[in-house]
Amino acid sequence: RNGVAVPVEPSIKTIVELTHRVTSGLCWLGTFVMWILAVRGFDRGHPTRSAAGWSLFFMTTEALVGAGLVLFRMVADNPSTARAAWMSAHLINTFLLLAALTWLAFSARHRDGVRFPRDRQTRRLLAGAATVVLLVGVSGAVAALGDTLFPASSLAEGLREDLSPSSHLFLRLRLWHPVIAVFGSSYLLWFAVVVVRRRPDAGVAKAAWALGGLVLIQIAVGLANVALLAPVWTQLVHLFLADATWITLVFVALSSPSPIPDASVVP
Ligand code: HEM
Repeated sequence: RNGVAVPVEPSIKTIVELTHRVTSGLCWLGTFVMWILAVRGFDRGHPTRSAAGWSLFFMTTEALVGAGLVLFRMVADNPSTARAAWMSAHLINTFLLLAALTWLAFSARHRDGVRFPRDRQTRRLLAGAATVVLLVGVSGAVAALGDTLFPASSLAEGLREDLSPSSHLFLRLRLWHPVIAVFGSSYLLWFAVVVVRRRPDAGVAKAAWALGGLVLIQIAVGLANVALLAPVWTQLVHLFLADATWITLVFVALSSPSPIPDASVVP
């Protein structure tokens, strides 16, 4: 942001920003190499090759969204609604990138590769769970933005701001994240139980149990986040668990190649 490629006597913030740029560049290069290897090693249409293609696609769009955040000044103390939209797009892209990379890692371990389930019933059930995690995540990104721009000095003051009609939109939306998260978590727990109940396969059951467990831990960390006024360490743990929940859901999807029987009751 300060207009030089390698700053002299940088501040901590500048070092963090520079590290993020360098590691992002390395991630893109790594994904590009994996794509080249997949194109050379697998025929067109092979799942592992498709997964590598999607990984490179979302890694590239991730970089573009990240660059857009800086170029359009969606940083520092910018409180515009557009910034919330950019942050949400960034989060959704990160989740799609994680899904593609998980698919790539999963598929590369099987000679014939692995695809997402094709039957409509399983897809609908999984799409419901994916939409829930994305919605909860986006509402969380808006809550985090509210916390960053207008840090509260106490829980009571924070709540007062959340409920005041004269507060900034991000503060009034902040309260919605826990509400959406509790409803969303109920769906995910129900989803995990349906998967465990209907599928005898040990791999799927394990992934579904892990999903349910992660959701419960995430609620506890979310509560700690609120109670402690979101210090950096709970923010990081909460974000890490959100990513882990999502990756576990992708695992459930990839281990469920055939229909989940009797799973037509989507609430
Ligand atoms: C499955 C459940 C949940 C998921 C997937 C989830 C996901 C997320 C995500 C992705 C963020 C944005 C993190 C960032 O960009 O820094 C976030 C922020 C936040 N979440 Fe959750 N969340 C869940 C449950 C909860 C619950 C139940 C609560 C509270 C009771 C909660 C409280 C918060 C708070 C206070 C923030 C803002 C923290 C900050 O300032 O960085 N979350 N959540």
